Amino acid sequence: MDNAKELRLTKHTKKQLELPYYGYSVLRYFTAALFVAAIVSIWLAIVFTGWSSILCVALGVILLFAGVFCHLSMGWMTNREKIELLKTDFSERLEWAGTGKVLDIGTGQGRVAIGVAKQFPEAQVTGVDTWTKGWKLFGMTKAGAARNAVIESVSARCSFQTGSALDLPFAEGEFQLVVSAFVFHEVRIPDRTLLLKEAIRVLAPGGVFVICDLFNGSLLNTYKVKSVPELLETVRQMGAEEVKYERLKDAGVKLGGLVHIWELGYLSGRKV
Ligand SMILES: C[S@@+](CC[C@H](N)C(=O)[O-])C[C@H]1O[C@@H](n2cnc3c(N)ncnc32)[C@H](O)[C@@H]1O
Repeated sequence: MDNAKELRLTKHTKKQLELPYYGYSVLRYFTAALFVAAIVSIWLAIVFTGWSSILCVALGVILLFAGVFCHLSMGWMTNREKIELLKTDFSERLEWAGTGKVLDIGTGQGRVAIGVAKQFPEAQVTGVDTWTKGWKLFGMTKAGAARNAVIESVSARCSFQTGSALDLPFAEGEFQLVVSAFVFHEVRIPDRTLLLKEAIRVLAPGGVFVICDLFNGSLLNTYKVKSVPELLETVRQMGAEEVKYERLKDAGVKLGGLVHIWELGYLSGRKV
């Protein structure tokens, strides 16, 4: 290998090692694939005649709408500035003393766990996740999370463990802070109150939780409630106080497009 090529490779590898990866860039390719498929379908509609042509037009239009919807409702996930905005907003609402153990449920690439470790230099943070196959496509792996922690210089205080949000592999009252972002809606169970119960179970009395997720009408149903005030009451009955819900929209976090149809928000509180 000549020197110039070797130097280029070294620079590339170094860059890869130095930059943490928390993004969802696969979404960008997915949206692009929908647009390309729409164009191909519409082109085929011109080539074909009769029913085949009509079917191709219909398919093309559906794919086009899917692409636009994907871009407008999830495109922000590939935007560094918007992810940063969300990160800042999340950390600003952690009303926590900063000493003790933290659990990040569904940590993925460790984005929130590492953010908390950086924000609170005395915290010991654990990220837990099932890291199932589908999520590997998005780069969500235990090794990826550990690598990000090394790059961000928090690996001594940030560890990652396999386990499910449904049955957290931790003792009751083990953590002073429990956080989670964009996970609960991913756990396909008819009764999501189990997730909240588990999160509160592992919290020590006086410990704080902040859960950022989607809380739209159909998701509220899976918490066995019909409205946000009912959800807050359910959480209080689980042994929490100062229970609050704030929509990202109301918190002034502008992610653009159709994002707010998901009713993104923060559910937070303190264990009694
Ligand atoms: C949208 S990602 C969010 C990752 C990370 N919290 C973030 O904000 O970047 C959802 C994560 O939830 C994890 N997950 C899904 N079901 C889970 C379960 N039952 N227990 C723990 N983690 C789960 C997935 O593996 C994935 O890493």
